[in-house]
Amino acid sequence: MFSRRVLGIEMSGIRKIFDMAQGEVINLGLGEPDFHPPPEAKEAIYEAVKKGYNKYGPSRGFPELREAIAEKYSKYADITAENVLITVGGTEAFLAVMLSLIDPGDEVLYPNPGFVLYRPHTIIAEGKPVDYPILQENEFVPTQEDLQKRITKRTKAIIVNYPNNPTGGVLREEDIKMIVDIAEENDLIIISDEVYFHLVYDSPPQTFLGKYDKLIFINSFSKEFAMTGWRLGYIIAPKDIIEQVSKIHYYMVACPQSPIEYAALIALQKSGYYREMMRERFKKRRDLMYQLLSKIDGVQPNLPKGAFYMFPKITLDADPMDIVKEMVKNGVLCTPGEAFGSAGKKHIRFSYAASEEDIKKAMEIFNAVLEKFR
Ligand SMILES: Cc1ncc(COP(=O)(O)O)c(C=O)c1O
Repeated sequence: MFSRRVLGIEMSGIRKIFDMAQGEVINLGLGEPDFHPPPEAKEAIYEAVKKGYNKYGPSRGFPELREAIAEKYSKYADITAENVLITVGGTEAFLAVMLSLIDPGDEVLYPNPGFVLYRPHTIIAEGKPVDYPILQENEFVPTQEDLQKRITKRTKAIIVNYPNNPTGGVLREEDIKMIVDIAEENDLIIISDEVYFHLVYDSPPQTFLGKYDKLIFINSFSKEFAMTGWRLGYIIAPKDIIEQVSKIHYYMVACPQSPIEYAALIALQKSGYYREMMRERFKKRRDLMYQLLSKIDGVQPNLPKGAFYMFPKITLDADPMDIVKEMVKNGVLCTPGEAFGSAGKKHIRFSYAASEEDIKKAMEIFNAVLEKFR
């Protein structure tokens, strides 16, 4: 009765852990800021609804919003509103892109460990997902060799995600050049998931924008303005790609949500301070969690340079999945690294989008839980 497409995918492992939780828990499993959207953006939704923004809007998104996005990134690349498509979060952006580019059997390179969408979206588009490792010993950046040896005549695209979920890794300029060179040599499309673009702590953000012609840049308002539930994102790409992706987007969702687009435009215009405030707060929490984790026996923490995740390696002879289950029993939610792919198996992902008090308590519990495995 069911399609091979749907039977070929599974629900994300992250949810399974969430379902095990009972009662009050400290949640370090979340993939979203623990803030609410900026006040002026919340106000803007009421205003939009009162002003009558309750109808279908332009399928590609409000021209003013597309222009504001083009303007925002114009320092990186020559972009106009024609290069921008507003989507229902980065999630819809991804699926629309995959359905527009991938034919059956086309191979798509994606990171392992990596965000949970890449593999299923490739399968839904009837492509063949091919994972490449990103490892702690290489600061979660792929090696040239690991990429090159996976490329075949069928390789169509490479998905990259920096700042990275689940590892917090970021790219240096030379890493971008290495990936662009490989893409150029092999005529690949680069799909760059940069939804954590604004969350880089120790250096200016690096982006693929402006560095390659066949680039699809995906971003979202979810993390930038803590609007995960509002579901608004966007694609920046060459016009011919936007033309084609817009068709799939139209048939999937008709148009983005009008009042949300209105509020996102206000946020872009007025809420830059809020984005900075969140970054400052996350940086403090990152430093705190790193410092606490560094004192715990049996873990090798990484100092993440972006996003809001810590992805320490468990150096004990224990399955991190068992540790995560024990953590849930003790009131702390976190995510087993294997939920992000086989190369994450020895890791646990902790989100530090949580209060300092919760981070302190959770790290104490982690230390106590690990005692059982030492
Ligand atoms: C790496 C990455 N890409 C894309 C998304 C999707 O974000 P959204 O659909 O909320 O824009 C997320 C959300 O957690 C993510 O972590």
